[in-house]
Amino acid sequence: MSTQRANWPRLRSLGLLSRIGLIFLILTLVGGYIISGIYLQWEYENRDEREGLTMTDIVGAYHGVSSPSPLLESLKSGHPEDLPDPDRQALIDWLESDRVSDDYDNLDLGDAAPSEIIAVSCLDCHTRGAEMGDGIGDRVPLDYFDDVQSIAISREVMPKNLKIVALSTHVHAPSLAMVLIVLVLLSAMTRWPSVLVGALGAAGGIGIFFDISGQWLARTDAFWAYAIVGGGFAMSMSVGLLGFLIVVDLLLPGAKAKPDTEANS
Ligand code: HEC
Repeated sequence: MSTQRANWPRLRSLGLLSRIGLIFLILTLVGGYIISGIYLQWEYENRDEREGLTMTDIVGAYHGVSSPSPLLESLKSGHPEDLPDPDRQALIDWLESDRVSDDYDNLDLGDAAPSEIIAVSCLDCHTRGAEMGDGIGDRVPLDYFDDVQSIAISREVMPKNLKIVALSTHVHAPSLAMVLIVLVLLSAMTRWPSVLVGALGAAGGIGIFFDISGQWLARTDAFWAYAIVGGGFAMSMSVGLLGFLIVVDLLLPGAKAKPDTEANS
């Protein structure tokens, strides 16, 4: 492999000004790439209305998710233990109906109104500043309808519109591929071992392929959301590290030229 690469042009044999120009170009390229990564993070992190960028956000964006209501889950799992069965069933029926806000304090329901059951069976612990329940009252209060509503509703996150995915592919596939092509070629002209730059280039190339095809495949199978994330990660690492290696190569003096390249420095 090293004999084949011996004929390659070397960045270190470029003139000073060309090297300075390349350093700033690479910084711009990689810097722009990092900024667009941060933008993507903003764009997706609130898809599931829970903080931070989670797998659910990605699955939501490309496949869609329905996350069940935490309140319903908790009741079905048997919490709290001493809740009488009829009350539990009344709350479950209410949450599974489409009248969550209408029936919350529906007077016609009398003692079976959800607000009544909650007041009697839950607020000992689930009220702000409650003495019982290890502070759960501050973390998950159930005093007001707003409190209850935030955990009562099952969320459906619809996947992105197909046209948007197409538009995004149209913008990103060529530009990201070009970024990587440039970095792979430039890094092959550095002094770093070909195994290292080769492995980074391969990881980036395979990464971008699965990142972008994953955005389409995830529509039918949520599993591919992992390819989007894994591929995107491999691509980012590759872009960052290749850019770094190239810039360092350009900064280092050219004196170390091997005998097989013109020793013009
Ligand atoms: C004796 C105190 C107590 C009572 C009464 C009680 N809870 Fe809780 N609840 C807790 C504690 C402590 C936790 C946190 C630990 C756990 O999940 O068991 C909790 C957790 C929860 C959670 C999960 C919150 C989350 O984000 O994971 C929900 C929902 C919940 N309770 C609803 C209710 C409802 C509805 C009632 C009344 C029908 C009720 N609780 C009655 C103490 C109580």
